[in-house]
Amino acid sequence: MTQSPNPSTAPHGADVRRGPFRAGDRVQLTDQKRRINTITLTPGGSFHTHKGVLAHDSLIGQPEGVVVENTTGHRYQALRPLLKDFVLSMPRGAAVVYPKDAAQIVTMGDIYPGARVVEAGVGSGALSISLLRAVGEHGYLHSYERREEFADIARGNVETIFGGPHPAWQISIGDFQDEVLKKEEPGSVDRVVLDMLAPWECVDAVATVLAPGGVWVNYVATVTQLSRTAEAIRADGRFTEPEAWESMVRGWHLDGLAVRPDHRMVAHTGFLMTCRRLADGAVGIPGQKRVKNTEFAQEDLDAWTQGHDEEAWHAAGLGERGVSDRKLRRAAKDAASTAQRGAFRSADAGQSVTGQAAEAGEAEAGQEQ
Ligand SMILES: C[S@@+](CC[C@H](N)C(=O)[O-])C[C@H]1O[C@@H](n2cnc3c(N)ncnc32)[C@H](O)[C@@H]1O
Repeated sequence: MTQSPNPSTAPHGADVRRGPFRAGDRVQLTDQKRRINTITLTPGGSFHTHKGVLAHDSLIGQPEGVVVENTTGHRYQALRPLLKDFVLSMPRGAAVVYPKDAAQIVTMGDIYPGARVVEAGVGSGALSISLLRAVGEHGYLHSYERREEFADIARGNVETIFGGPHPAWQISIGDFQDEVLKKEEPGSVDRVVLDMLAPWECVDAVATVLAPGGVWVNYVATVTQLSRTAEAIRADGRFTEPEAWESMVRGWHLDGLAVRPDHRMVAHTGFLMTCRRLADGAVGIPGQKRVKNTEFAQEDLDAWTQGHDEEAWHAAGLGERGVSDRKLRRAAKDAASTAQRGAFRSADAGQSVTGQAAEAGEAEAGQEQ
């Protein structure tokens, strides 16, 4: 028989994510039109829509997955949100690594329990959450972020999902390529994961801190970043041949005989690339069909950079949207106050969590009172 784990020995945050619904739990309500609202359970609280009122007390003490009715007989299916739901609706400043890519990074980057991992930038902390889950309480994740406002948002989001500060996590503010050399011993890091504008600027720093055999994962949004990073890695010579890929996930519509791909999908998120640190002094084995000339042809350079110079390699030049300071302050405030209210549970429950639900495909149909 499976023993239910003692909460004090359960992995970080695990004890608040199982068992019957309790006051303070976050709950995702799916209505009959499959619209989703996320509420935080509070004794005596209620969830109001134009279709009636649902008492929070009708959920507290019930098992997860229960289906309840509101005052007009409207039915709601109730479940705790999963990591993917949280990540797509949490407060954010920068674009987050989507769950499909975080899954690839954890597996293809071989992020294992107890690993020593460094990461940059932190952005909203979406990838940090997956990395922390993978390294576990006895691992090590040091995240580097050049913008303090982003670090604040990430801290709030991480503390919300884990129910408080994670024992394996620390953030440093500053440019990765400078800070990592001050904070990590040479050759002491097992895995490096970069999601930033210009990973090619970090080649020397990564080669210094990464242990022989260590894995370097890059996540970039554009082909130009991918190409420039790959060539910088090859030119450095301390790494294995880089490998690149992308993943596309297409949902399917399942309805009787009408079984087909969904009409809509997220067609592009980013490209992934990995390589490994060679032993000092080793000369790597190049890819089989290696093009002799590793320099870009002038024709390619002209096509990519016409009318541009080094300054073209900035966020706007690569198609990233700027984020206003006002939006960042609001996201950091939301993340901190959500974290203060607790993880998937909290003491002073009772507010609906809307975040960026629209981006997660969640419709906002109701409000709590
Ligand atoms: C797309 S966001 C990262 C998103 C994050 N991985 C997530 O899943 O939420 C890119 C971040 O990298 C940061 N950044 C860019 N260059 C950096 C550098 N050299 N050192 C540290 N952070 C950097 C930016 O400030 C930004 O927050």
